[in-house]
Amino acid sequence: MQKFDVVVVGSGPGGYVAAIKCAQLGLNTAIVEREKLGGVCLNVGCIPSKAMITAAHWLDKVEHGFPEMVIEVSKPKIDFKKMVAWKQSVCDKMSGGVNQLLKGNKVTIFNGTAEFVSPTQIEVQSSKGKEQLETKYMILALGSRPIQIPGFEFDEKNIVSSTGALDLDAIPKRMVTIGGGYIGLEISSYMKKLGTEVTILEAADSLLAGVADPDCSQVVARKLKKSGVKVIHQAKAKSQKKTGSEYEVTYELNGKTETLKADKILVTVGRRPNGDQPTLKKLGIQIDERGFVKVDAQRRTNVKNIFAIGDLCGQPMLAHKASHEGVMVAEIIKGAPRAFDAKTIPAVVFTDPEIASAGMLESEAIAKGYKNLKIAKFPFGANGRAVSMMETDGFVKMIASENDVLLGVHIVGPEASNLISEAVLAIEMGARLQDLALSIHPHPTLGETMMEAAEATLGHAIHIIQKPLHTPAPQPAATK
Ligand code: NAI
Repeated sequence: MQKFDVVVVGSGPGGYVAAIKCAQLGLNTAIVEREKLGGVCLNVGCIPSKAMITAAHWLDKVEHGFPEMVIEVSKPKIDFKKMVAWKQSVCDKMSGGVNQLLKGNKVTIFNGTAEFVSPTQIEVQSSKGKEQLETKYMILALGSRPIQIPGFEFDEKNIVSSTGALDLDAIPKRMVTIGGGYIGLEISSYMKKLGTEVTILEAADSLLAGVADPDCSQVVARKLKKSGVKVIHQAKAKSQKKTGSEYEVTYELNGKTETLKADKILVTVGRRPNGDQPTLKKLGIQIDERGFVKVDAQRRTNVKNIFAIGDLCGQPMLAHKASHEGVMVAEIIKGAPRAFDAKTIPAVVFTDPEIASAGMLESEAIAKGYKNLKIAKFPFGANGRAVSMMETDGFVKMIASENDVLLGVHIVGPEASNLISEAVLAIEMGARLQDLALSIHPHPTLGETMMEAAEATLGHAIHIIQKPLHTPAPQPAATK
């Protein structure tokens, strides 16, 4: 029996961050992982998809951007197998980095499957046999997996989840994507750039319904259409039939049955928490009907020494939320009086252009009772850096209360993923529009769009025509 203060199960961005923080705080820590270190995010999710998105972005730039800049190049060629191997090398580098960080912090790593025996005991099954661990605290960071729909069971070769889509051995001629959410849009966008004919079947009326600002989703929808991706709304995928090497996908549209031909089918209809592992029952923790482990604001389960973090304990299923919870739980175990009280968890969809958001949607602000909201957009087309980068699609949209407190920022455009962090800080600090408008932003940068969007929301941006001022010039907020 090996004894620890903390055993973390799962090494995704929740688990490995929790383990490192526990070790930094002087706790004798172990981590158990049945697959590669880094979990879904580093190995089959966020990182490999961003590698493929980057490769496809540069290919698209060479094909469509360079001629306008009068840089002549011969038609670019892709060696897809080598591109996928490069993507894998990026993942391996990141996973290797996690291994080094864990070892450097003296975290004991167990490569095997954790079977839960009791709230203080875990058995690890691996190629080495069985190992018994005893622990004072357990942190469950078991993650999530793609949802399968009946009739479209994954074989990860032809009917694929994101995992199989990121590891194809050739560029398919035609792909049908079922689900126009985060994953469906990210993968469809880059596959189209690599040369695949893509059709997206989406059950809702719009893409990213309910998760992104509708004005932002529209910009992405327009660009997808322009690039040749076909999106069919209110389409419910029903079944598929294989004939030779091609598939016929049947879907329902306005009460009628329609069909489509494809070589690959990508199913991205959401993810399900891994809370249904049989031995979890032995811990006595409460798990809801969707498989989420029930936790309080400290991410503590109903069993006092057991915590759950990341995708396993609830939405949003985002890596950075899991990491935040991992650090917090380590500090709570060490005795810190902490609880999850983030004002906002930012979200990014790595489409072309990217969508990033922090804080409330307009509909959420109205539902919370805010009246006379101040809302404005500043377009990237009016920003010098964006024009010089040939990246003018999109805008920064701000939503503020009637007394100018920033409630939400929704960006669609170049580097939205990087720009949003300023909004997160502003919202966390309870900033007003004037705080952003009166902070000097460097020129010429995309970051100026944040300052100008704040000015636009106050009614007096410089680089767009707005109505004459009806209010005095902005004053720094006296109180917050
Ligand atoms: P999602 O929940 O974002 O989207 C699923 C879509 O599928 C919905 O729009 C839904 O209407 C549609 N749908 C469901 N059943 C359908 C059917 N039978 N036919 C047609 N359409 C159907 O799910 P997704 O894209 O699988 O992503 C899962 C989670 O992974 C996200 O919620 C997100 O938290 C996380 N993620 C985050 C990323 C990021 O931060 N950039 C990237 C990828 C995933």
